Amino acid sequence: MSGVPADGFTSLDVAMTPPTPLLRVTGISKHYATPVLSDIALDLHAGEVLALTGENGAGKSTLSKIICGLVQPTTGTLTLTGQPFQPASRSHAERLGVRMVMQELSLIPTLSVAENLLLDKLPHRFGMIDQRALYEQAKRQMAVIGLDDIDPGVLVGSLGIGHQQMVEIARNLVGDCKLLILDEPTAMLTDREIAHLFEQIARLKARGVGIVYISHRLDELQRIADRVAVLRDGRLVDVRPMADVTQDELVQRMVGHVVDEGAQRPRRVAGAVRLEVRGLHCGEQVQAVDLSLHAGEIMGLAGLVGAGRTELLRLIFGADRKDGGELFLDRKAQPVTIDSPMTAIRHGIGLVTEDRKAQGLLLNQSIRVNTTLANLAAVNRRGWLNYAEEHDVTRRLTDILRVKYGSVEQVVGELSGGNQQKVVFARWLHRDCNVLLLDEPTRGVDIGARADLYQELDRLAADGKAMLMVSSDLRELMTVCDRIGVMSAGRLVGVFERGEWTEQILLEACFSGYANLTPTPQSAAASL
Ligand SMILES: Nc1ncnc2c1ncn2[C@@H]1O[C@H](COP(=O)(O)OP(=O)(O)OP(=O)(O)O)[C@@H](O)[C@H]1O
Ligand SMILES: [Mg+2]
Repeated sequence: MSGVPADGFTSLDVAMTPPTPLLRVTGISKHYATPVLSDIALDLHAGEVLALTGENGAGKSTLSKIICGLVQPTTGTLTLTGQPFQPASRSHAERLGVRMVMQELSLIPTLSVAENLLLDKLPHRFGMIDQRALYEQAKRQMAVIGLDDIDPGVLVGSLGIGHQQMVEIARNLVGDCKLLILDEPTAMLTDREIAHLFEQIARLKARGVGIVYISHRLDELQRIADRVAVLRDGRLVDVRPMADVTQDELVQRMVGHVVDEGAQRPRRVAGAVRLEVRGLHCGEQVQAVDLSLHAGEIMGLAGLVGAGRTELLRLIFGADRKDGGELFLDRKAQPVTIDSPMTAIRHGIGLVTEDRKAQGLLLNQSIRVNTTLANLAAVNRRGWLNYAEEHDVTRRLTDILRVKYGSVEQVVGELSGGNQQKVVFARWLHRDCNVLLLDEPTRGVDIGARADLYQELDRLAADGKAMLMVSSDLRELMTVCDRIGVMSAGRLVGVFERGEWTEQILLEACFSGYANLTPTPQSAAASL
């Protein structure tokens, strides 16, 4: 019969054969001391955005690193456009068009932005690096992601972590890319930068690039993903079209139970002033900031990347030198002199940092050492460290925060990103400060653990501690805080009480300080 091939299939059957997936993952497992991934099977198609989600330690980064050649699987195989794919290293995977924006940034802080962006293809002329061409290419690359206002010659290490994350993203948009994995790319970004990133993702998608997108921010996943895959304890528990699932269902699948973030909490009762800041300033970054922080309250600090929020916390903590201004503690008439983190800690001020790698943790040291480091006095007997007590304290704090680990002697570098962040927090819980400065404390922390952390903040507030918390997630600030201060272009442009704020009001305040400066944030506002 005409039209029917000899093997009996009709041409309709042939047309229905699904296209070869861009990436096929089959039976992938990974064992360290314990299994962390078990028998993962997953397809990714060209031009598709697949959201990958799950609790801290579920195995998302490990799976991504296997695909990018950074980690070798214990069992299982991969194919790329139908061909066997066994990347032996990251550069091997990159040569085949598989790239990854890492959760822990992989930039070199002592090189310039331009050098980091174009490291493997530095332009040469007569055997020398062509600086002008380098800067021009880098500028073009940065403009793509909305980073036009950064000088490509500055050292990456001198940028704030939000900008570093943008550079890391820009670096991976260079060159030929078939498959891009973004491991929590927006953890440090605000809406303005996220809008730029999403534009780029849409463009890549249209070009047929397959994208794996990892985030704990579920609203983002819903905006951007075609399908969602949920990992729990190293197993793939669900893969389905994004449109078929609500946020609540997703959380249930990830965590296994319903999570209450306590969004409707009443305002806490504020006590006496614990910390007063008068006229604090440092260059253009922090200009004449006045604020007072009361016992028993959590004040939030909102703002765009670069608005001066981190800088303000660092000045209060004595980590940077201020140009002027005074700090008063507990309504004393005399200002305190805080010129180093040591003096800040001595005065009962703690700082949970956003950049856990550079400022927070000793990655080669154990969970126990990292937890007790800031308060060794509490675990020492006549000059000797009391190991058993250290051990117990660490267990207690890490249990409260539900850190996922093998033993408290495990080195922190082996923990998943979100669990590392919990260890930073555990350290300051141990220190028992009266004033706690929190800089993106839930960066990369999953939804269930975030609710635990909020409860811990509640308990600290009820204990009379005063907290000042920076977060790029406005919803988080609106959930947790009693008041929210907004910084814009280095100034504290407004302080809003619970009940007074809406997301719109806060956003407008975030942009207000830039109105008379450059057109960039204005146009970005339009894209929000
Ligand atoms: N080099 C290593 N040695 C031992 N265990 C490791 C190592 N790397 C990762 N693990 C463990 O593998 C598990 C999965 O970690 P992974 O980083 O993949 O989690 P994740 O889902 O990305 O979490 P997060 O949301 O916190 O980033 C964790 O329990 C972690 O402690
Ligand atoms: Mg991770």
